[in-house]
Amino acid sequence: MKELLLLFISSSLLITPITSSPAFKTTPRFLSKFSNTNKPLTQQNLKYETQYFTQTLDHFTFSNLPTFQQRYLINSNYWSGPLQMGPIFFYCGNEGDIEWFAANTGFVWEIAPRFNALVVFPEHRYYGESMPFGSREKAYENASSLAYLTTEQAIADFAVLVTDLKWNLSAKACPVVFGGSYGGMLAAWMRLKYPHIAMGALASSAPILQFEDIVPSETFYDIVSRDFMRESSSCFDTIKKSWGALEVEGMKDDGLVQMSSNFRLCQRLNNTKDLSDWLSSAYSYLAMVDYPYPSEFLMPLPANPIKEVCREIDSYPNGTSVLERIFAGVSIYYNYTGTVDCFDLGDDPHGMSGWDWQAKQCIKEFGIKPRPQWVTTEFGGHDIRTTLRTYGSNIIFSNGLLDPWSGGGVLQNVSETIVALVTAEGMTRE
Ligand SMILES: *[C@@H]1O[C@H](CO)[C@@H](O)[C@H](O)[C@H]1NC(C)=O
Ligand SMILES: *[C@@H]1O[C@H](CO)[C@@H](O)[C@H](O)[C@H]1NC(C)=O
Ligand SMILES: *[C@@H]1O[C@H](CO)[C@@H](O)[C@H](O)[C@H]1NC(C)=O
Ligand SMILES: *[C@@H]1O[C@H](CO)[C@@H](O)[C@H](O)[C@H]1NC(C)=O
Ligand SMILES: *[C@@H]1O[C@H](CO)[C@@H](O)[C@H](O)[C@H]1NC(C)=O
Ligand SMILES: *[C@@H]1O[C@H](CO)[C@@H](O)[C@H](O)[C@H]1NC(C)=O
Repeated sequence: MKELLLLFISSSLLITPITSSPAFKTTPRFLSKFSNTNKPLTQQNLKYETQYFTQTLDHFTFSNLPTFQQRYLINSNYWSGPLQMGPIFFYCGNEGDIEWFAANTGFVWEIAPRFNALVVFPEHRYYGESMPFGSREKAYENASSLAYLTTEQAIADFAVLVTDLKWNLSAKACPVVFGGSYGGMLAAWMRLKYPHIAMGALASSAPILQFEDIVPSETFYDIVSRDFMRESSSCFDTIKKSWGALEVEGMKDDGLVQMSSNFRLCQRLNNTKDLSDWLSSAYSYLAMVDYPYPSEFLMPLPANPIKEVCREIDSYPNGTSVLERIFAGVSIYYNYTGTVDCFDLGDDPHGMSGWDWQAKQCIKEFGIKPRPQWVTTEFGGHDIRTTLRTYGSNIIFSNGLLDPWSGGGVLQNVSETIVALVTAEGMTRE
């Protein structure tokens, strides 16, 4: 077991996103249309089969609740099979369409042949096609339909799925290594909660400390701010000023109409907040994908996108309105390809809107009271080092310090088998 982990570590953890490969450079995709495209995988080794598994909606009750179809992608081309004890790399899907994650998780596809591993990408419930209640609309309809969108249920899905899969493949003895990026947390928790199922975990950018009072909740935004400030302080100042400018503009008589037109929105703006949310999510995502090479992880973007955004914002002569600059800046993010006719604030190209529910516990939106202590009660977090050292093993935490999630990540080695790999500059995203 430990050998695999060591192999895991020693095999270069340099993360090469597939999107940086020549194949993709010559065939740019437009991610905002992503959901409509066929499998975007142009690389030979990215082939997989799509399967569906009948999953229990509620794992923690015995009442007769409905099931739903959970999608998973599987590739057995490299697998040495059960007799050779070929490992299973089970990459936890997180907040989004699983095909999108699979296409952007180069690392797993790169190491699979080396380890003769079976690759499985299960989709997270309530994302992509894995919708309870038959459709996205029904699943997200109200607080009771959303009640089964919890981390506990999601990792139970993974545990049930992989167990059943091993049974079907007569591969009960094969070691399973869990991985994940945004949901690297899920991978780490799989290992902690289901150690008999997960032999090890590779948790990238796993903000498992990002709860409660363990690290200040502002940390994420502090890092986003730092990323912009680091690039240009005038750029940062302009962004900072823009929030006030938006408010002021929004109060004016036809301010919302004016802004809808200036920001080239497809629909008339109903309030300022929708626009500022749209802007701030661009900045957050930019900080998450500030790679030194062109990428298409969230959107087609140039290398060093924050630098490009700031270059745009700073390029305007003094006296230009703050909002005009901001617009030019976010256009790098939302319209880098230059093919967008108008901006749709409701556009959620990666099916990530459910993320709000889990990450921010939107009280207003769904009328649900958050339970701030629950996550740490369920998964730990306070003095996590002691817990991990005492009860945990075989987890690799990898973090890039510019990644806004790193503030809540495990950045120090905890024990011989719980190690932190930290890159000062780069972003880890596998
Ligand atoms: C909530 O949504 C579910 C699923 O669509 C539906 O069956 C149920 O009746 C709704 N409940 C309320 C209180 O609206
Ligand atoms: C295992 O096989 C059964 C019977 O064919 C099937 O219903 C089930 O979906 C399979 N499990 C998985 C994880 O594919
Ligand atoms: C404003 O409200 C209308 C009616 O509810 C809606 O159709 C439109 O999409 C909203 N505009 C934006 C930008 O969300
Ligand atoms: C704009 O004004 C600031 C000080 O007010 C100055 O530092 C900066 O160089 C000016 N930028 C341009 C492009 O003129
Ligand atoms: C997107 O960029 C293209 C090319 O620069 C431009 O013609 C178009 O107006 C932009 N779209 C929006 C909505 O700003
Ligand atoms: C943790 O240990 C590994 C080797 O065991 C080393 O490569 C890595 O740099 C260490 N991480 C930190 C953050 O010191």
